[in-house]
Amino acid sequence: MTLLKGAVPYGEGDPVDILIEDGFVSEIGTPESDGGEVIDAHGLIALPGFVDLHTHLREPGREDTETIETGSAAAALGGYTAVFAMANTDPVADNPVIVEHVWRRGREVGLVDVHPIGAVTVGLKGERLAELGAMARSDANVRIFSDDGLCVADPLIMRRALEYSRGLDVLIAQHAEEPRLTVGAQAHEGETAARLGLAGWPAAAEESIVARDCLLAGHVGARLHVCHVSTAGTADVLRWAKARGTQVSAEVTPHHLLLDDDRLNTYDPVNKVNPPLRTSSDAKALREALAEGVIDCVATDHAPHAPQDKDCEWSAARPGMLGLQTALSVVVRTMVQPGLLDWRGVARVMSERPAEIAGLPDHGRPIAAGEPANLVLVDPKATWTVNGARLASLAGNTPYEGMELPGVVKATMLRGKLTARDGQAVR
Ligand code: DOR
Ligand code: ZN
Repeated sequence: MTLLKGAVPYGEGDPVDILIEDGFVSEIGTPESDGGEVIDAHGLIALPGFVDLHTHLREPGREDTETIETGSAAAALGGYTAVFAMANTDPVADNPVIVEHVWRRGREVGLVDVHPIGAVTVGLKGERLAELGAMARSDANVRIFSDDGLCVADPLIMRRALEYSRGLDVLIAQHAEEPRLTVGAQAHEGETAARLGLAGWPAAAEESIVARDCLLAGHVGARLHVCHVSTAGTADVLRWAKARGTQVSAEVTPHHLLLDDDRLNTYDPVNKVNPPLRTSSDAKALREALAEGVIDCVATDHAPHAPQDKDCEWSAARPGMLGLQTALSVVVRTMVQPGLLDWRGVARVMSERPAEIAGLPDHGRPIAAGEPANLVLVDPKATWTVNGARLASLAGNTPYEGMELPGVVKATMLRGKLTARDGQAVR
Protein backbone atom coordinates (compact mmCIF):
# COMPACT_ATOMS: atom_id res chain seq x y z
CA MET A 1 0.00 0.00 0.00
CA THR A 2 1.35 3.43 -0.95
CA LEU A 3 -0.16 6.85 -0.38
CA LEU A 4 0.79 9.72 -2.68
CA LYS A 5 0.00 12.75 -0.54
CA GLY A 6 -0.94 16.09 -2.06
CA ALA A 7 -0.42 15.43 -5.78
CA VAL A 8 -2.31 17.40 -8.42
CA PRO A 9 -3.56 15.06 -11.19
CA TYR A 10 -2.98 16.60 -14.63
CA GLY A 11 -1.98 19.87 -12.91
CA GLU A 12 -5.70 20.70 -12.53
CA GLY A 13 -7.57 21.60 -9.38
CA ASP A 14 -6.73 21.01 -5.72
CA PRO A 15 -4.13 18.58 -4.38
CA VAL A 16 -5.46 15.11 -3.57
CA ASP A 17 -4.18 11.98 -1.91
CA ILE A 18 -3.91 8.93 -4.16
CA LEU A 19 -4.02 5.52 -2.47
CA ILE A 20 -2.39 2.64 -4.34
CA GLU A 21 -3.15 -0.95 -3.41
CA ASP A 22 -2.24 -4.19 -5.19
CA GLY A 23 -1.01 -2.35 -8.27
CA PHE A 24 -4.14 -0.27 -8.72
CA VAL A 25 -5.37 3.15 -7.71
CA SER A 26 -7.88 2.28 -5.00
CA GLU A 27 -9.02 5.68 -3.81
CA ILE A 28 -8.57 9.35 -4.58
CA GLY A 29 -9.47 12.13 -2.17
CA THR A 30 -8.42 12.01 1.45
CA PRO A 31 -8.03 8.28 2.07
CA GLU A 32 -6.56 6.93 5.30
CA SER A 33 -3.55 4.69 4.89
CA ASP A 34 -2.63 2.46 7.78
CA GLY A 35 0.92 1.35 7.74
CA GLY A 36 1.86 1.71 4.08
CA GLU A 37 4.50 3.92 2.52
CA VAL A 38 3.65 7.61 2.32
CA ILE A 39 5.18 9.71 -0.45
CA ASP A 40 5.04 13.45 -0.03
CA ALA A 41 3.81 14.67 -3.40
CA HIS A 42 2.96 18.27 -2.45
CA GLY A 43 3.73 20.59 -5.34
CA LEU A 44 3.95 17.65 -7.77
CA ILE A 45 1.78 16.90 -10.78
CA ALA A 46 0.57 13.32 -11.26
CA LEU A 47 0.35 12.05 -14.83
CA PRO A 48 -0.20 8.61 -16.35
CA GLY A 49 3.18 6.92 -16.92
CA PHE A 50 4.69 7.80 -20.28
CA VAL A 51 4.72 5.40 -23.25
CA ASP A 52 7.54 5.56 -25.80
CA LEU A 53 6.75 4.07 -29.20
CA HIS A 54 10.34 4.42 -30.42
CA THR A 55 13.35 3.35 -28.30
CA HIS A 56 16.61 1.72 -29.37
CA LEU A 57 17.75 -0.55 -26.53
CA ARG A 58 20.63 -2.12 -28.54
CA GLU A 59 20.28 -5.58 -27.01
CA PRO A 60 21.17 -8.00 -28.52
CA GLY A 61 24.35 -6.93 -30.26
CA ARG A 62 25.54 -3.57 -28.97
CA GLU A 63 25.50 -4.07 -25.23
CA ASP A 64 28.49 -1.73 -25.06
CA THR A 65 26.11 1.18 -25.81
CA GLU A 66 22.91 0.15 -24.00
CA THR A 67 21.27 -2.93 -22.56
CA ILE A 68 17.67 -3.70 -21.75
CA GLU A 69 18.65 -3.10 -18.12
CA THR A 70 20.32 0.29 -18.55
CA GLY A 71 17.76 1.46 -21.09
CA SER A 72 14.94 0.42 -18.75
CA ALA A 73 16.54 2.46 -15.96
CA ALA A 74 16.78 5.49 -18.27
CA ALA A 75 13.12 4.99 -19.20
CA ALA A 76 11.94 4.77 -15.58
CA LEU A 77 13.96 7.88 -14.70
CA GLY A 78 12.35 9.68 -17.63
CA GLY A 79 8.85 8.87 -16.35
CA TYR A 80 8.14 6.00 -18.74
CA THR A 81 6.20 2.89 -17.78
CA ALA A 82 6.23 1.27 -21.24
CA VAL A 83 8.68 1.43 -24.14
CA PHE A 84 8.75 -0.14 -27.58
CA ALA A 85 12.19 -1.47 -28.48
CA MET A 86 13.19 -1.07 -32.13
CA ALA A 87 14.11 -4.10 -34.23
CA ASN A 88 17.46 -2.90 -35.63
CA THR A 89 19.49 -4.98 -33.19
CA ASP A 90 22.20 -7.48 -34.13
CA PRO A 91 20.85 -10.04 -34.86
CA VAL A 92 17.77 -8.23 -36.14
CA ALA A 93 14.50 -8.81 -34.28
CA ASP A 94 12.85 -10.44 -37.29
CA ASN A 95 11.84 -13.74 -35.67
CA PRO A 96 10.14 -15.08 -32.52
CA VAL A 97 13.41 -16.06 -30.78
CA ILE A 98 14.79 -12.53 -30.68
CA VAL A 99 11.53 -10.76 -29.83
CA GLU A 100 10.88 -13.27 -27.03
CA HIS A 101 14.37 -12.66 -25.65
CA VAL A 102 13.78 -8.91 -25.53
CA TRP A 103 10.37 -9.37 -23.99
CA ARG A 104 11.62 -11.80 -21.31
CA ARG A 105 14.65 -9.71 -20.43
CA GLY A 106 12.41 -6.66 -20.05
CA ARG A 107 10.19 -8.60 -17.65
CA GLU A 108 13.19 -9.79 -15.62
CA VAL A 109 14.51 -6.26 -15.23
CA GLY A 110 11.01 -5.12 -14.34
CA LEU A 111 11.53 -1.34 -14.46
CA VAL A 112 9.32 -0.68 -17.46
CA ASP A 113 7.17 -2.79 -19.78
CA VAL A 114 9.47 -3.53 -22.72
CA HIS A 115 7.57 -4.38 -25.88
CA PRO A 116 9.72 -5.56 -28.78
CA ILE A 117 9.01 -4.17 -32.22
CA GLY A 118 9.43 -6.79 -34.95
CA ALA A 119 11.17 -6.12 -38.26
CA VAL A 120 8.92 -5.78 -41.32
CA THR A 121 11.43 -7.45 -43.63
CA VAL A 122 14.00 -10.20 -43.10
CA GLY A 123 17.25 -8.67 -41.85
CA LEU A 124 15.85 -5.15 -42.51
CA LYS A 125 16.85 -5.73 -46.11
CA GLY A 126 13.55 -4.56 -47.56
CA GLU A 127 13.28 -7.60 -49.82
CA ARG A 128 11.16 -10.28 -48.14
CA LEU A 129 8.52 -9.92 -45.46
CA ALA A 130 9.55 -11.26 -42.06
CA GLU A 131 7.24 -13.70 -40.28
CA LEU A 132 4.95 -11.08 -38.87
CA GLY A 133 2.33 -13.63 -37.81
CA ALA A 134 4.80 -15.80 -35.91
CA MET A 135 6.10 -12.77 -34.00
CA ALA A 136 2.56 -11.53 -33.32
CA ARG A 137 1.59 -14.96 -31.94
CA SER A 138 4.81 -15.43 -29.94
CA ASP A 139 5.02 -14.90 -26.18
CA ALA A 140 6.21 -11.37 -26.98
CA ASN A 141 2.81 -10.66 -28.57
CA VAL A 142 4.37 -8.21 -31.05
CA ARG A 143 1.97 -5.39 -31.93
CA ILE A 144 4.21 -3.01 -33.92
CA PHE A 145 6.51 -3.78 -36.83
CA SER A 146 9.17 -1.47 -38.25
CA ASP A 147 12.42 -1.56 -40.21
CA ASP A 148 13.37 1.68 -38.47
CA GLY A 149 16.81 2.95 -39.33
CA LEU A 150 15.81 1.97 -42.84
CA CYS A 151 12.73 2.67 -44.92
CA VAL A 152 10.51 -0.04 -46.37
CA ALA A 153 11.11 1.61 -49.73
CA ASP A 154 9.71 -0.94 -52.20
CA PRO A 155 6.04 0.01 -52.64
CA LEU A 156 5.03 -3.58 -53.35
CA ILE A 157 6.62 -4.85 -50.11
CA MET A 158 5.09 -1.96 -48.19
CA ARG A 159 1.65 -2.69 -49.62
CA ARG A 160 1.94 -6.37 -48.68
CA ALA A 161 3.11 -5.47 -45.19
CA LEU A 162 0.06 -3.21 -44.78
CA GLU A 163 -2.25 -5.97 -46.06
CA TYR A 164 -0.84 -8.51 -43.59
CA SER A 165 -0.92 -5.97 -40.77
CA ARG A 166 -4.62 -5.42 -41.27
CA GLY A 167 -5.31 -9.15 -41.08
CA LEU A 168 -3.18 -9.54 -37.96
CA ASP A 169 -4.45 -6.31 -36.38
CA VAL A 170 -0.92 -5.00 -35.91
CA LEU A 171 0.70 -1.70 -36.85
CA ILE A 172 3.39 -0.91 -39.43
CA ALA A 173 5.62 2.00 -38.33
CA GLN A 174 7.54 3.52 -41.21
CA HIS A 175 10.91 5.29 -41.15
CA ALA A 176 10.02 7.54 -44.08
CA GLU A 177 13.12 8.08 -46.20
CA GLU A 178 13.21 7.54 -49.96
CA PRO A 179 16.69 6.00 -50.17
CA ARG A 180 17.37 7.15 -53.73
CA LEU A 181 17.01 10.75 -52.57
CA THR A 182 19.30 10.41 -49.56
CA VAL A 183 22.35 8.59 -50.93
CA GLY A 184 25.32 9.94 -48.93
CA ALA A 185 23.10 12.46 -47.14
CA GLN A 186 24.64 14.07 -44.04
CA ALA A 187 22.39 16.98 -43.07
CA HIS A 188 19.08 18.66 -43.93
CA GLU A 189 19.28 19.88 -47.52
CA GLY A 190 19.28 23.64 -47.24
CA GLU A 191 21.41 26.70 -46.61
CA THR A 192 23.29 25.32 -43.61
CA ALA A 193 24.30 22.06 -45.34
CA ALA A 194 25.37 24.01 -48.44
CA ARG A 195 27.51 26.39 -46.38
CA LEU A 196 29.10 23.55 -44.40
CA GLY A 197 29.68 21.41 -47.47
CA LEU A 198 27.54 18.53 -46.25
CA ALA A 199 25.49 16.41 -48.70
CA GLY A 200 21.81 17.22 -48.32
CA TRP A 201 18.88 15.09 -47.05
CA PRO A 202 15.91 16.71 -48.82
CA ALA A 203 12.57 17.18 -47.09
CA ALA A 204 10.90 15.59 -50.12
CA ALA A 205 12.58 12.25 -49.35
CA GLU A 206 10.43 12.07 -46.21
CA GLU A 207 7.30 13.75 -47.52
CA SER A 208 7.05 11.64 -50.69
CA ILE A 209 7.17 8.37 -48.70
CA VAL A 210 4.62 9.61 -46.17
CA ALA A 211 2.27 10.64 -48.99
CA ARG A 212 2.78 7.31 -50.76
CA ASP A 213 2.23 5.28 -47.61
CA CYS A 214 -0.90 7.23 -46.67
CA LEU A 215 -2.31 6.39 -50.11
CA LEU A 216 -1.31 2.73 -49.80
CA ALA A 217 -2.78 2.44 -46.30
CA GLY A 218 -5.96 4.14 -47.46
CA HIS A 219 -6.41 1.77 -50.40
CA VAL A 220 -5.62 -1.31 -48.33
CA GLY A 221 -7.73 -0.16 -45.38
CA ALA A 222 -4.82 -0.61 -42.99
CA ARG A 223 -3.44 1.56 -40.21
CA LEU A 224 -0.10 3.30 -40.67
CA HIS A 225 2.23 4.93 -38.16
CA VAL A 226 4.81 7.50 -39.28
CA CYS A 227 8.01 7.61 -37.21
CA HIS A 228 9.85 10.83 -36.27
CA VAL A 229 8.11 13.40 -38.48
CA SER A 230 10.66 16.11 -39.17
CA THR A 231 9.36 18.57 -41.78
CA ALA A 232 6.55 21.10 -42.09
CA GLY A 233 5.61 19.44 -45.38
CA THR A 234 5.07 16.07 -43.69
CA ALA A 235 2.71 17.75 -41.22
CA ASP A 236 0.77 19.10 -44.22
CA VAL A 237 0.59 15.64 -45.80
CA LEU A 238 -0.68 14.17 -42.51
CA ARG A 239 -3.29 16.91 -42.18
CA TRP A 240 -4.52 16.09 -45.68
CA ALA A 241 -4.51 12.31 -45.12
CA LYS A 242 -6.35 12.57 -41.81
CA ALA A 243 -8.93 14.91 -43.34
CA ARG A 244 -9.73 12.27 -45.96
CA GLY A 245 -10.11 9.55 -43.33
CA THR A 246 -6.82 7.68 -43.65
CA GLN A 247 -6.01 5.72 -40.50
CA VAL A 248 -2.62 7.30 -39.94
CA SER A 249 -0.86 8.24 -36.73
CA ALA A 250 2.44 10.03 -36.31
CA GLU A 251 5.12 10.82 -33.76
CA VAL A 252 7.63 13.64 -33.36
CA THR A 253 10.86 13.47 -31.36
CA PRO A 254 11.76 15.97 -28.64
CA HIS A 255 14.90 16.95 -30.58
CA HIS A 256 12.93 17.88 -33.70
CA LEU A 257 10.68 20.07 -31.53
CA LEU A 258 13.57 21.98 -29.94
CA LEU A 259 16.68 21.85 -32.12
CA ASP A 260 17.38 22.96 -35.67
CA ASP A 261 20.21 22.81 -38.18
CA ASP A 262 21.82 25.96 -36.75
CA ARG A 263 23.38 23.48 -34.31
CA LEU A 264 25.50 22.01 -37.12
CA ASN A 265 27.88 24.97 -37.34
CA THR A 266 30.35 23.35 -34.94
CA TYR A 267 30.37 20.05 -36.88
CA ASP A 268 29.82 18.27 -33.56
CA PRO A 269 28.38 14.84 -34.49
CA VAL A 270 26.31 14.78 -31.31
CA ASN A 271 23.85 16.72 -33.51
CA LYS A 272 23.86 14.13 -36.28
CA VAL A 273 20.57 12.25 -36.39
CA ASN A 274 18.28 10.65 -38.93
CA PRO A 275 16.02 12.29 -39.98
CA PRO A 276 18.30 15.30 -39.62
CA LEU A 277 17.65 18.43 -37.59
CA ARG A 278 15.66 20.66 -39.98
CA THR A 279 15.12 24.42 -40.03
CA SER A 280 13.68 26.51 -37.20
CA SER A 281 10.50 26.99 -39.23
CA ASP A 282 10.12 23.21 -39.55
CA ALA A 283 10.50 22.89 -35.77
CA LYS A 284 7.84 25.56 -35.26
CA ALA A 285 5.45 23.78 -37.65
CA LEU A 286 6.03 20.49 -35.78
CA ARG A 287 5.20 22.11 -32.43
CA GLU A 288 1.99 23.50 -33.89
CA ALA A 289 1.06 20.18 -35.51
CA LEU A 290 1.58 18.39 -32.19
CA ALA A 291 -0.56 20.94 -30.35
CA GLU A 292 -3.27 20.56 -33.01
CA GLY A 293 -3.22 16.74 -32.93
CA VAL A 294 -2.10 16.38 -36.56
CA ILE A 295 0.97 14.76 -35.00
CA ASP A 296 -0.39 12.40 -32.36
CA CYS A 297 2.40 11.92 -29.91
CA VAL A 298 6.00 12.36 -28.81
CA ALA A 299 8.42 9.43 -29.22
CA THR A 300 12.06 9.67 -28.22
CA ASP A 301 14.00 7.77 -30.93
CA HIS A 302 16.43 7.21 -28.03
CA ALA A 303 19.55 6.12 -29.93
CA PRO A 304 22.63 5.40 -27.79
CA HIS A 305 25.97 5.26 -29.59
CA ALA A 306 29.50 4.40 -28.44
CA PRO A 307 32.09 7.20 -28.17
CA GLN A 308 34.08 5.81 -31.12
CA ASP A 309 30.94 6.08 -33.27
CA LYS A 310 30.19 9.67 -32.22
CA ASP A 311 33.46 11.38 -31.32
CA CYS A 312 34.80 11.24 -34.85
CA GLU A 313 34.52 13.20 -38.07
CA TRP A 314 30.98 14.15 -39.07
CA SER A 315 30.66 11.88 -42.10
CA ALA A 316 31.85 8.78 -40.18
CA ALA A 317 29.62 9.37 -37.14
CA ARG A 318 26.44 7.37 -36.61
CA PRO A 319 23.13 9.20 -36.47
CA GLY A 320 21.19 9.28 -33.25
CA MET A 321 20.89 10.88 -29.81
CA LEU A 322 19.77 9.90 -26.32
CA GLY A 323 16.22 10.87 -25.44
CA LEU A 324 14.55 8.92 -22.64
CA GLN A 325 15.65 11.00 -19.66
CA THR A 326 15.28 14.39 -21.33
CA ALA A 327 12.00 13.94 -23.25
CA LEU A 328 9.64 15.37 -20.65
CA SER A 329 11.83 18.39 -20.01
CA VAL A 330 12.12 19.18 -23.72
CA VAL A 331 8.33 18.88 -24.07
CA VAL A 332 7.88 21.25 -21.13
CA ARG A 333 10.33 23.71 -22.69
CA THR A 334 8.90 23.57 -26.21
CA MET A 335 5.19 22.97 -25.60
CA VAL A 336 4.12 23.77 -22.01
CA GLN A 337 6.11 26.94 -21.36
CA PRO A 338 4.97 28.65 -24.60
CA GLY A 339 1.35 27.68 -23.87
CA LEU A 340 0.95 25.20 -26.74
CA LEU A 341 0.02 22.33 -24.37
CA ASP A 342 -1.24 22.17 -20.80
CA TRP A 343 -0.44 19.19 -18.55
CA ARG A 344 -3.55 17.38 -19.75
CA GLY A 345 -2.05 17.78 -23.21
CA VAL A 346 1.29 16.38 -22.01
CA ALA A 347 -0.58 13.31 -20.73
CA ARG A 348 -2.22 13.00 -24.15
CA VAL A 349 0.93 13.18 -26.28
CA MET A 350 3.29 11.27 -23.98
CA SER A 351 0.99 8.61 -22.55
CA GLU A 352 -2.61 8.33 -23.74
CA ARG A 353 -2.19 8.56 -27.52
CA PRO A 354 0.91 6.34 -27.72
CA ALA A 355 -0.84 3.72 -25.55
CA GLU A 356 -3.90 3.85 -27.83
CA ILE A 357 -1.81 3.67 -31.00
CA ALA A 358 0.01 0.59 -29.68
CA GLY A 359 -3.15 -0.95 -28.24
CA LEU A 360 -1.82 -1.16 -24.68
CA PRO A 361 -4.80 -1.63 -22.39
CA ASP A 362 -3.03 -0.85 -19.08
CA HIS A 363 -1.11 2.32 -19.91
CA GLY A 364 -2.27 5.84 -20.67
CA ARG A 365 -5.32 5.26 -18.49
CA PRO A 366 -7.15 7.95 -16.51
CA ILE A 367 -5.90 8.64 -12.98
CA ALA A 368 -8.95 7.20 -11.26
CA ALA A 369 -9.97 4.54 -8.75
CA GLY A 370 -9.83 1.06 -10.24
CA GLU A 371 -7.17 1.93 -12.83
CA PRO A 372 -3.68 0.40 -12.98
CA ALA A 373 -1.16 2.45 -10.95
CA ASN A 374 1.17 3.35 -13.82
CA LEU A 375 2.02 6.89 -12.83
CA VAL A 376 4.65 9.59 -12.87
CA LEU A 377 5.09 12.47 -10.44
CA VAL A 378 6.60 15.60 -11.95
CA ASP A 379 7.93 18.73 -10.27
CA PRO A 380 6.83 21.42 -12.73
CA LYS A 381 8.81 24.20 -11.05
CA ALA A 382 12.20 22.51 -10.68
CA THR A 383 14.96 22.61 -13.29
CA TRP A 384 18.03 20.43 -13.84
CA THR A 385 21.22 20.58 -15.85
CA VAL A 386 21.87 17.75 -18.28
CA ASN A 387 25.13 15.83 -17.84
CA GLY A 388 25.49 12.95 -20.30
CA ALA A 389 27.95 11.08 -18.10
CA ARG A 390 25.41 10.96 -15.28
CA LEU A 391 22.49 9.65 -17.32
CA ALA A 392 21.56 5.99 -16.79
CA SER A 393 22.35 5.05 -20.39
CA LEU A 394 25.69 3.41 -21.09
CA ALA A 395 26.22 5.91 -23.89
CA GLY A 396 26.41 9.64 -23.24
CA ASN A 397 25.45 11.16 -26.60
CA THR A 398 22.98 13.81 -25.47
CA PRO A 399 22.62 17.00 -27.53
CA TYR A 400 21.43 18.81 -24.38
CA GLU A 401 24.76 18.60 -22.51
CA GLY A 402 25.06 21.48 -20.06
CA MET A 403 21.56 22.81 -20.78
CA GLU A 404 19.32 23.76 -17.90
CA LEU A 405 15.90 22.25 -18.59
CA PRO A 406 12.56 22.64 -16.81
CA GLY A 407 10.47 19.82 -15.29
CA VAL A 408 11.89 17.09 -13.08
CA VAL A 409 10.58 13.51 -12.78
CA LYS A 410 10.42 12.87 -9.04
CA ALA A 411 8.95 9.36 -9.10
CA THR A 412 7.70 6.73 -11.51
CA MET A 413 5.45 3.85 -10.57
CA LEU A 414 4.75 0.67 -12.55
CA ARG A 415 1.75 -1.34 -11.36
CA GLY A 416 2.05 0.27 -7.94
CA LYS A 417 5.77 -0.38 -7.53
CA LEU A 418 8.22 2.54 -7.51
CA THR A 419 10.66 2.20 -10.40
CA ALA A 420 12.37 5.58 -10.00
CA ARG A 421 12.55 8.02 -7.15
CA ASP A 422 14.55 11.25 -6.74
CA GLY A 423 16.81 10.48 -9.68
CA GLN A 424 17.52 6.84 -8.80
CA ALA A 425 16.10 3.79 -10.55
CA VAL A 426 14.58 1.38 -8.00
CA ARG A 427 14.84 -2.33 -8.73
O1 DOR B 1 19.18 8.75 -35.83
C1 DOR B 1 18.75 7.61 -35.91
N1 DOR B 1 19.32 6.61 -35.21
N2 DOR B 1 17.73 7.36 -36.73
C2 DOR B 1 17.32 6.10 -36.99
O2 DOR B 1 16.41 5.93 -37.74
C3 DOR B 1 18.02 4.95 -36.38
C4 DOR B 1 18.70 5.32 -35.13
C5 DOR B 1 19.70 4.32 -34.65
O3 DOR B 1 19.41 3.11 -34.64
O4 DOR B 1 20.78 4.73 -34.21
ZN1 ZN C 1 14.14 6.03 -37.77
